[in-house]
Amino acid sequence: MGYENILIEEKNGIVVLSINRPKALNALNAGVFKDLDHFFTENYSNENVKAVVITGVGDKAFAAGADIKEFMGMSEEQGTNLSRKGMAVFEKIENFSKPVIAAVNGFSLGGGNELAMSCHFIVASEKARFGQPEVNLGLITGYGGTQRLPRYVGQAKAMELLLTGDMINAQEAKSLGLVSHVVEHGNEVEKSVEILNKIITKSPFAIAKMIETVNAFSDNKKNGFEIEANNFGKTISSYDGQEGAKAFLEKRKPKFKGR
Ligand code: HXC
Repeated sequence: MGYENILIEEKNGIVVLSINRPKALNALNAGVFKDLDHFFTENYSNENVKAVVITGVGDKAFAAGADIKEFMGMSEEQGTNLSRKGMAVFEKIENFSKPVIAAVNGFSLGGGNELAMSCHFIVASEKARFGQPEVNLGLITGYGGTQRLPRYVGQAKAMELLLTGDMINAQEAKSLGLVSHVVEHGNEVEKSVEILNKIITKSPFAIAKMIETVNAFSDNKKNGFEIEANNFGKTISSYDGQEGAKAFLEKRKPKFKGR
């Protein structure tokens, strides 16, 4: 499918997906959500896609939030639906079977920051700025910010950031645990690809099960320990799990098949 609001570049199985609305600081409109939904649905089981980096086109923004132009005249029902639909797309990203890194190249605000947080972790440019400015608009977050930000930074700090709407810089975001790496401006995609190149040498089956199991940590409807035991069983009895153990004992590199 040809996308209108995102750019896709693929190299060695790593896709760099760029939000492509630089004139609006990559604000997330319905078109961006449609493209993200399609990409992450289509590629869940596509073996040619091994990992994804999400970034923003241009020098200034990862994504400066939901597109505020779409808020005009919105009813309560429409607002709830907008929120639910966006959350469903971000859940697909969070539960994607392959690793997804947000390479934050500038403003990561509101819905944009909620997108970054739904990725598996975040690599940031030293110039990146993070925040949930919804309160400045008389709103609350709608794409999971109240739930995901506390998971990254703890409830009290998340509460402060959500209630003040303040922006923080990349170093502060790293010291709080929101960001995993801060790099020179312009190197955030390269650093993400470097990390992903390491991850994709491992068993894709084990990686998928690891993502599923770690995500259970923040889902209070699930028993993460039970899921870990079951998924350990699945990986140890898989071709790759047996091959990994055998290769170790034979002092050679494993040859994984992804099953
Ligand atoms: C629509 C946006 C936008 C947004 C920026 N633009 N953010 N358009 N929605 N979220 C547009 C501006 O209108 C402007 O268009 C162009 O991008 C450049 O932005 P400027 O404001 O001129 O740039 P600058 O002065 O450098 O300020 C950068 C900024 C500011 C601090 C990031 O743009 C800003 O505060 N943006 C809004 C951030 C925000 O409140 N986000 C949360 C949205 S609510 P023109 O046409 O004038 O050139 C949200 C809720 C999600 O995300 C949940 C929904 C269910």
